[in-house]
Amino acid sequence: MRRRVPAGLDRAVPAFVQPMIGRRAVLATGVGVALAGCTGTPPTPESKRFDPKDWDSVRAQFPLDPGLAHFAAFVLAAHPAPVRAAIDRHRAALDADTSAVLHGAVDHEQRARTAAAGYLGADPGEVALTDSTTMGMGLLCAGLKLKPGQDIVTTEHDFFGSHEALRLLSERTGAPVRRARLYDDPAAANEGDIVARLRAAVGPRTRLVVITWVHSSTGVRLPVKTIAGMLAELNAARDPADRALLAVDGVHGFAAVDTTVTDLGCDFLTAGTHKWLFGPRGTGLLWSRAWAAVAPVIPSFSAGDTPGSLATPGGYHSFEHRWAVTEAFEFHQAIGRDRIAARIREQATRLKDGLAAIRNVRLVTPRDPDLSAGLVMCALPTVSPVEAVGRLRADHKIVASVTPYAEPFLRFGPGIVTTPGQVDQVIKAVAAFG
Ligand SMILES: Cc1ncc(COP(=O)(O)O)c(C=O)c1O
Repeated sequence: MRRRVPAGLDRAVPAFVQPMIGRRAVLATGVGVALAGCTGTPPTPESKRFDPKDWDSVRAQFPLDPGLAHFAAFVLAAHPAPVRAAIDRHRAALDADTSAVLHGAVDHEQRARTAAAGYLGADPGEVALTDSTTMGMGLLCAGLKLKPGQDIVTTEHDFFGSHEALRLLSERTGAPVRRARLYDDPAAANEGDIVARLRAAVGPRTRLVVITWVHSSTGVRLPVKTIAGMLAELNAARDPADRALLAVDGVHGFAAVDTTVTDLGCDFLTAGTHKWLFGPRGTGLLWSRAWAAVAPVIPSFSAGDTPGSLATPGGYHSFEHRWAVTEAFEFHQAIGRDRIAARIREQATRLKDGLAAIRNVRLVTPRDPDLSAGLVMCALPTVSPVEAVGRLRADHKIVASVTPYAEPFLRFGPGIVTTPGQVDQVIKAVAAFG
């Protein structure tokens, strides 16, 4: 995926792309350096008061209504203070002198990519910046190079975005897509069965396996590392250019489970940074260690010839959001990725234990914290999930959500904006449904 920039192109491309293409020349004039400096990230008054070791202080960074218990905050992020401040700063600068700020675009984008790579445990050159999980999956499926006769395997449990991207890939190439069923009862799902069922679906010509790290339908967390190990065994006998690649929609594991891409062992990871990370709305990433298998789909405006840069869709963006991804990663790392994962696990376990003890509640998500993450789903025989969400909000000031799948469940997502005390309130409120 190398891009050749013909001589003279800089006269024909948008103004902000020019410093990206001719970065050295711009920096040599001093313009880029000066502007990058003046739109940097000085500490804000809010972030000075922020104590990352204190969960109340962490919650106080969010503008979320304190009169509500926010168990659906993972659906689309509210912006914590450092992220709001960064967005405001970039927006004000862009509004005041757009042209000048665009000269610093290269540096802002690179900071965001480097912050993402630091979190992922990856090389910045492997990270494409996107607008969402869905965009990452779309870029992968639209750009995947396939040979005649190759096929794709996915599962029944993935989000609509993955299934639709694969349908479009199948229409474009004619490649068949098979869906495996990895468990019948999510509460009883187990690692051995999941891996065996997926393995049975992979054929000798399977080029891509698409899975979802944490199912937003059931809360089941897949054993991605073990699945990657299973595929590595199958791939050992194959030509490296034909090996089955593992792509993961990681959005409900990313920043909720403390894992790097090396630990996961997958080839592609797509995730929005606007859910569990609480990054700017409309931001995400696509990471890969196998970029050679994918052709770019949208022309890139990014600097450099790394695969991640070339796969980053070009065009002008809502840059104040994209560049403030850096502060979202800094906020997360300041609190501690391990502490956040433990906080989520502690509350999810407390919630599952409490719900499982209520007569007439069917816990859908596995109790085992290694087979689940922050999402907790349940079914109530007497109240529909939609009605339950309405009553929880109206009568108990608890915000929950309904799973957007054929079989809907009542869904909670405890995290850094909720407390163990609020988890107990949820359990009490659900018990009151009878
Ligand atoms: C598993 C899964 N993937 C992807 C998405 C969409 O994420 P994004 O808005 O980042 O595209 C969702 C829900 O919003 C989801 O549950």
